[in-house]
Amino acid sequence: MSLQSSLIDKIQKLKREKRAIILAHNYQRPEVQDIADFVGDSLELSLYAMQTDARTIVFCGVNFMAETAVILNPDKKVLIPDINALCPMASMLPADLMKLYRRKYPKAKIVLYINSLAEAKAYSDAICTSANATEVVDQIDSEVVLFGPDINLARYVQMKSSKKIIPIPQYGFCPVHKLFSKREVLRLKQIYPDAEVMAHPECDPEVWEVADFIGSTSKMYARTLTSRANKFIVATEIGILHRLKKGRNDATFIPAYEEAICVNMRLHTLEKVYLCLKDEKYEVKIPEKIVAKGREPIEFMFKIQKYKK
Ligand code: 13P
Ligand code: SF4
Repeated sequence: MSLQSSLIDKIQKLKREKRAIILAHNYQRPEVQDIADFVGDSLELSLYAMQTDARTIVFCGVNFMAETAVILNPDKKVLIPDINALCPMASMLPADLMKLYRRKYPKAKIVLYINSLAEAKAYSDAICTSANATEVVDQIDSEVVLFGPDINLARYVQMKSSKKIIPIPQYGFCPVHKLFSKREVLRLKQIYPDAEVMAHPECDPEVWEVADFIGSTSKMYARTLTSRANKFIVATEIGILHRLKKGRNDATFIPAYEEAICVNMRLHTLEKVYLCLKDEKYEVKIPEKIVAKGREPIEFMFKIQKYKK
């Protein structure tokens, strides 16, 4: 038996014993995606975390995702295999800045991208993901909306909504999605003229300009299942290619930039997943006050989802 299959057996056994589930984001390493009970984008992972009756959730994603699972499941144990899996974009909007913006714009509502710290969520009015940002902004009761921490998602929402969007902080960004450029996409388009271009809204607007489809990671996945194209140029973190290939093994997926790797997402390995289940660490903990204050804005987002059905 190979080292990998013995690790997989041990993980499965521990999962049954501890009534645990493994959730993995679309950017996780292929072997981590393959062992997960559910693989998805930020919105789907939050919904799944809210609905599960498992006692323990092993969250293979970055800190803000695991923190969201804690806020939604204060009675469950939420574990993360590597405690250093932090999202640099989320860190660009700490609670102190949120307090400052609240003071500066007392009448405006604040919508935060789920890629934000729990301490920041506690000061927000609503949470959104890249899959529902415009709907959430349109449903919130204010014509002026502070939106953060991703300036590109703020710009994307501004393009779709008639409300006034103020980005907070002024220039929050994802370092991974900064790596994509219009020039490189156009170069690839010359090599693969019949390929469809898919881009994440965290990319710079110049990349959306040359994209055929803009959406969250799972929306991209869904798109490939219905599109007639059989070549796709993909402008998001390359971990998603594994899931895309599994869904459409007849298609070719070309990364819009080969080195677009989120090192934080990659920190979780099979071995760390095993140790996490065995030693029940690292448990993600958030002060009770933040859990209570953070839940309301997330629930607002879920209400919007229902409203859509
Ligand atoms: P999705 O919600 O589209 O999966 O995006 C999460 C993320 O971290 C993008 O960088
Ligand atoms: Fe954060 Fe960007 Fe990594 Fe997503 S890809 S977790 S936004 S650093």
